Amino acid sequence: QRPILRLLSCPGTVAEDLRRDERPSGSVETGFEDKIPKKRFSEMQNERREQAQRTVLIRCPEKFSENKFLKYLSQHGPINNHFFYESFGLYAVVEFCQKESVVSLQNGTHTPSMAMETAIPFRSRFLSLKLKNQTSERSCIQSSDQLPPSNRKLFELLCYAESIDDQLNTLLKEFQLTEENTKLRYLTCSLIEDIAAAYFPDCIVRPFGSSVNTFGKLGCDLDMFLDLDETRNLSTHKTSGNFLTEFQVKNVPSERIATQKILSVIGECLDHFGPGCVGVQKILNARCPLVRFSHQASGFQCDLTTNNRIALTSSELLYIYGTLDSRVRALVFGIRCWARAHSLTSSIPGAWITNFSLTMMVIFFLQRRSPPILPTLDSLKTLADAEDKCIIEGNNCTFVRDLNRIKPSGNTEALELLLKEFFEYFGNFAFNKNSINIRQGREQNKPDSSPLYIQNPFETSLNISKNVSQSQLQKFVDLAQESAWILQQEDTDRPSVSSHQPWGLAAILLPSVPNRRSLTKKKRKRSANERVKNLLESLKSNRTANFTETNEK
Ligand code: GTP
Ligand code: MG
Repeated sequence: QRPILRLLSCPGTVAEDLRRDERPSGSVETGFEDKIPKKRFSEMQNERREQAQRTVLIRCPEKFSENKFLKYLSQHGPINNHFFYESFGLYAVVEFCQKESVVSLQNGTHTPSMAMETAIPFRSRFLSLKLKNQTSERSCIQSSDQLPPSNRKLFELLCYAESIDDQLNTLLKEFQLTEENTKLRYLTCSLIEDIAAAYFPDCIVRPFGSSVNTFGKLGCDLDMFLDLDETRNLSTHKTSGNFLTEFQVKNVPSERIATQKILSVIGECLDHFGPGCVGVQKILNARCPLVRFSHQASGFQCDLTTNNRIALTSSELLYIYGTLDSRVRALVFGIRCWARAHSLTSSIPGAWITNFSLTMMVIFFLQRRSPPILPTLDSLKTLADAEDKCIIEGNNCTFVRDLNRIKPSGNTEALELLLKEFFEYFGNFAFNKNSINIRQGREQNKPDSSPLYIQNPFETSLNISKNVSQSQLQKFVDLAQESAWILQQEDTDRPSVSSHQPWGLAAILLPSVPNRRSLTKKKRKRSANERVKNLLESLKSNRTANFTETNEK
């Protein structure tokens, strides 16, 4: 048995943070580490899903012995790994080596008998650990953090970084999904799949969106796709002779109505029988019908959709872009945090830019560099082979799936330059006449008068940012120009830490205040002691107050 994977429960000290900053930039530990050869999206998804099927989620009492707990579970078979986390109570995620161990554990598990209420029996993989006799054993169980650092801590880290490149890499490292958080996301999908399987035994519930596209931040929602293709395709098995059999099914007038009916019944199931599923809302009249609910034990806000395969394909495309070059994720995280800090994005739907659109803008910008940092979607299509061919609802979604066949970029531009130029590029972009298009990687005339037009990469007649209003776009442009200006000023006159001025990324994450910067001529390099003293002083003041209110969700 391996020990707990990663421990983040202790608030970091400034000294620790300084040590952290001594790491060479670029040595960022990622949830999706750069491995050679790089894994295909489908391989990664299948491996994670299989892991999740061997895993159980256990609500634990306050006091118990970790060793005895593991020994007790090991009666059912060897444990591959485990970790604990807190979410209004202590939970354990335990991955067995074999699936059979889960069945054996379930066979020894009881349905609780209640004094006042009645339990609806349901054998899931979400269990509670009960002690027959209370123990006074104080086990110091260390739990893995499932939330991003506080803004105060992040602010400290950013101020102590050595360069803007370092700041962007620090931001990425602090916000990206951890290994444990990723496991918990796949486990949650697997638990929901067990419930949906009551109706559709061959269904698969797959995570998509930022949980898997390499751009997820700790705390982001969990997008789930109920995949019924196996159920649909069972009848395609070859039969001999002149006969074939078909299932008798109910017919409905459209795909949309079928989707609504399926989601409606799954929504009911989650509401009535889903352990830990609360606040179930059926949003069936949306453009893309969905069931929204909170999975209390994992703390995830979940959006379940079906008949949404293009979104899964978009996630795969973003996974490829995010994995190709280490600068992509760092820049996307920086821009997403910047947009959130200035309320350009929101967790509430509305006329604002979405994270998905922002990511497309960063990809487009990186395709426009010379030489390009990212290839166009059309060139990824050219590299595709026969097994990559994919048509969804008449849309050509073909592109190369094997990352190792894509040539790395020869562009060596630093993140600092890219961040600055991103703001300059979009601060001066002719949004009134041009559209953004990652398929061709060049600007095109807008086909309609939407303020912001970003072509949907697969459904090419659609605009993914149709919802964005002129005033929200203007706000984006103004802030991009202001941020470009701030970063430009720092080129000639970077403020010293002793001037109590946030610099670089920290400066552009602060809400706009006219003339907030009184630039000084002092040099940044100084002794660590002086920096610590000054930073602590500045943190005591209110300078970070606004910054600390910008955390996502
Ligand atoms: P977060 O803000 O971190 O949740 O990012 P996200 O990428 O997960 O976005 P969101 O949860 O809003 O949407 C999930 C996925 O649905 C995205 O990754 C896209 O694949 C897809 N999607 C979202 N919005 C649109 C849209 O306007 N058009 C299309 N075609 N797909 C979208
Ligand atoms: Mg999402």
